[in-house]
Amino acid sequence: MKDETASRRGVPTILRGLTVLAIALTGSGYPLATVTLAAQGSDPLVELGRLVFFDKTLSAPAGVSCASCHDPAKAFSGDNGSGTGVAAGAVKGSAGFRNVPSLMYLKASPSLGLGVVDDEPAMVGGMFWDGRASAFEDQALGPLMAAHEMNNAGAISLATRLSQAPYADQFQSLFGENVFSNPEEAVHGLTLAVGAFQRSPEFSPFSSKFDAVVRGETEFTRQEARGLDWFTIGQKGNCLSCHTVDIDSDDPADSLFTSFGYHALGAPRNPDLPATADAGYYDLGLCETLRKDEQIENPDQYCGFFKTPTLRNIELTAPYMHNGVFKTLRDAVAFYATRDTNPELWFPDGEKFNDLPEAMRGNVDTSKRPYHRKPGKRPALKDEEVDDIVAFLKTLTKSVNYRVQGQNASTVGTTGTRR
Ligand code: HEC
Ligand code: HEC
Repeated sequence: MKDETASRRGVPTILRGLTVLAIALTGSGYPLATVTLAAQGSDPLVELGRLVFFDKTLSAPAGVSCASCHDPAKAFSGDNGSGTGVAAGAVKGSAGFRNVPSLMYLKASPSLGLGVVDDEPAMVGGMFWDGRASAFEDQALGPLMAAHEMNNAGAISLATRLSQAPYADQFQSLFGENVFSNPEEAVHGLTLAVGAFQRSPEFSPFSSKFDAVVRGETEFTRQEARGLDWFTIGQKGNCLSCHTVDIDSDDPADSLFTSFGYHALGAPRNPDLPATADAGYYDLGLCETLRKDEQIENPDQYCGFFKTPTLRNIELTAPYMHNGVFKTLRDAVAFYATRDTNPELWFPDGEKFNDLPEAMRGNVDTSKRPYHRKPGKRPALKDEEVDDIVAFLKTLTKSVNYRVQGQNASTVGTTGTRR
């Protein structure tokens, strides 16, 4: 490695971030607010990461930043103005293949591996809907280089763009005077900065009404409280078995609304997605990642599996599912209730689980509550119970005016335009 300074200066900062994360996760006695304060904004790596994240000159052609698709006002999701389920890229007319996920609360995600979901061994963690990247630092190169996203030709052209950015001197002061003469090192620095930014409290503010209720500061309305019941009761929504909630804990960090596990739900095909013009196009999800790992036996049993997303801020992140097929939150919830009792509502052509090749439709989970019922039977959730769940889910929306205690008016949550 040519530039020793980079690793000497960069790594301890990252480690500090990880320590903060570990404390927050293990809840080792420190109140979360203290932890949050320790990690707040003043870290130069986080500040550099913020500048990179909003920099539209890093795409080819210029015009698209991370924030174009991951808009802070939409809990860091979005579509770069395409209006379809998938985002437009930097190159005119280019389009992505998957719905853009929210980046909030992702710092708690483990890397892809065998874990426990719902008391059973299962694949958990990883970045992207199919877990193919392990951490922020490894993920960031994906969008920077992908032709349908930021479209950089490689490290050299990206490093040139960085060297011309208004924050080039901040970059040099963190990673060394000569960082731009070593493009790989410069790109590595970028990934460290963007990773630190995504681990910062701005991405995990715990500022929703739900969090306030958990901390004993306010109460749910009656409808929201009913929604939480349907969400958690195994006989009703059973949602918490994948979208983790700890209702007995007074620490919001125990309720991330995802187990980071993978499941095949059989979401309908989204005809608005440009790629589906090809009848032979299928997004197989997790199995495409696992096929590259020789140690995994029969990876095809995981075709159709996608990562369970957090439901925090779900009100802000339409459309829904990996392919963006549902435009409204109500549809996304109602799908669970009637997918199997009234499949004609979701698959009008009678072809159930039509977004998977026929041979793989058997991978879709049909035994778990709430979608374990036979056609024509009563759904596990009535219409008004679906409405209650939607009302509850809206309590997971971050507060725009949230302030980290003790900070001078640093608004967390919509700071995209702060600087
Ligand atoms: C053109 C739109 C676009 C741009 C620009 C973009 N992303 Fe994304 N991002 C996506 C999409 C789409 C996905 C999901 C892709 C998948 O699962 O295969 C994604 C996924 C991610 C994930 C994984 C989220 C998860 O839940 O696992 C992270 C982290 C991320 N992006 C960060 C970034 C960063 C950092 C940048 C800038 C360097 C960036 N993105 C630029 C569209 C974009
Ligand atoms: C067996 C695990 C499992 C259960 C049970 C479950 N979910 Fe999900 N949920 C997932 C997975 C996996 C996805 C992503 C699926 C995809 O994109 O194909 C998802 C996606 C969602 C989405 C869309 C998220 C987004 O960002 O696009 C919503 C909303 C949602 N679930 C709500 C619920 C509700 C409400 C319940 C209970 C009625 C529930 N889920 C039960 C695993 C589960």
